Amino acid sequence: MKYMKLNNGIEIPIVGCGTNTYGKEGNQYSGALRGDTQEVDWAIENGYRHFDSAQLYLNEEVVGNGIKKSSLPREDFFITSKLNTFDGFHGADWAHAEIEKSLEKLQTDYIDLFLIHKPWDNDAEMVEAWTILEDYYNRGVFKSIGVSNFEKEHLDLLLENGTIKPAVNQIKSQVGHWNEELIAYNKNNDIATVAWSPLCGINENAKQVLEEVGNQYGKTYAQVVLRYQIERDVIVIPKSHNKERQAQSINVFDFELTASDHHRIAQV
Ligand SMILES: NC(=O)c1ccc[n+]([C@@H]2O[C@H](COP(=O)([O-])OP(=O)(O)OC[C@H]3O[C@@H](n4cnc5c(N)ncnc54)[C@H](OP(=O)(O)O)[C@@H]3O)[C@@H](O)[C@H]2O)c1
Repeated sequence: MKYMKLNNGIEIPIVGCGTNTYGKEGNQYSGALRGDTQEVDWAIENGYRHFDSAQLYLNEEVVGNGIKKSSLPREDFFITSKLNTFDGFHGADWAHAEIEKSLEKLQTDYIDLFLIHKPWDNDAEMVEAWTILEDYYNRGVFKSIGVSNFEKEHLDLLLENGTIKPAVNQIKSQVGHWNEELIAYNKNNDIATVAWSPLCGINENAKQVLEEVGNQYGKTYAQVVLRYQIERDVIVIPKSHNKERQAQSINVFDFELTASDHHRIAQV
């Protein structure tokens, strides 16, 4: 595994495991919890130690239970969760209560990376929410803090009004929507980019090009996409309900893409 150093010195495994449908009936986002931790167990067996979770997914306990069941030390894992701001912000008491629930469901007394899941249309509230995350960071409960789905103007708001710089901006970056400009803006501000849904958006034409690139190295189209992101310092959090494909997605450290591969991939 390769690690990236965040702007506060904390190291994050550059390949993490997405979890938004794990432990759910029919592998569906809106499915009820099944009560087992099969996909997390496989991921741990496959070598994943970084899990991307969120309050919104309603399955933080699947990640918490899987990690506990592994009997590996908590410090071996890097856990991300996110404050559910899809419906805006409901005040400091609400935020504190939701954060405490995350800690309980994840069965931990600290979270490695905690994000504001999504910006909303109220600058004062966003600064207030950030101040709450800063407080948890200062108390050592959150080891690093960041944001998700933030555009430049939202980042600027926190850079101007916060005392701690976001460590991460987790954004959509995938084939057909690489999000170059925002990734560059993150980088210029020493904010690491995490690409969500890194394996979505791949149409047949793109797949063909990616397979051609991958054939040179005995790698699949998915491994090529993930490697491409890693080589430009983008952290990836692929998710699969298949143990073999999970294994493939973390097996991306034994080949290197050339400049000409990069050029081709950037065009797909
Ligand atoms: N911050 C946000 O707003 C936000 C938004 C969306 C997602 N996320 C996070 O990003 C994570 C990943 O995104 P995602 O869940 O949309 O899925 P994804 O990683 O983009 O994968 C999409 C599909 O590709 C297939 N796949 C996985 N590994 C593969 C491989 N090695 N080869 C071929 N196909 C493969 C999977 O199907 P199979 O199961 O059939 O293998 C999966 O359903 C989420 O789980 C969540 O944690 C965050």
